[in-house]
Amino acid sequence: MVEPVLELSRREPKGVSMQRTLLNIKPDAVSRNLVGEICRRIEAAGFRIVAMEKTRLTRCEAEFFYHVHRDKSFFEDLIQFMVSGPSVPMVVEGENVIQNLRVLIGSTDPSEAAEGTIRRDMAENVTRNCVHASDSEETASREIAFFFSTRRLLD
Ligand code: RTP
Ligand code: MG
Repeated sequence: MVEPVLELSRREPKGVSMQRTLLNIKPDAVSRNLVGEICRRIEAAGFRIVAMEKTRLTRCEAEFFYHVHRDKSFFEDLIQFMVSGPSVPMVVEGENVIQNLRVLIGSTDPSEAAEGTIRRDMAENVTRNCVHASDSEETASREIAFFFSTRRLLD
């Protein structure tokens, strides 16, 4: 039997750096029915959605996911926001997708985000900023494993 992970790497054209990252549509965007528009932009940019679900984080899960920010002044506001309703986490695949999705979503503060980015076009403020995307290969691996089991990632 062929290992699924080997199967995946065999599908990649030579010289292309395929990556996977974790994008989470946050509760503000889910409650405003923006899931479809955000997915449309991700696919229009040439990326592929490998796995996706709708889930409401518990306080414990949100604190774990954002533990790097536990000493920041905005931590409590962030946690309360993240548990306020369901999120839609997904695994996105593509060439250089970690960096490219960060560009597509824009700066943390929507008022500073570039025109045409998801946060600039849709986000309300620096806390309620519609989406999260992993910022490095290391956080992408950790954050994908947080939301998705290996058997959900075979596509
Ligand atoms: P994310 O992790 O969600 O992709 O966002 P990011 O890298 O652009 O920003 P980061 O510094 O990691 O902050 C994580 C999330 O915390 C909230 N935040 N609030 N009130 C504030 O000054 C403030 N700063 C950050 C945002 O929801 C941000 O996305
Ligand atoms: Mg971050």
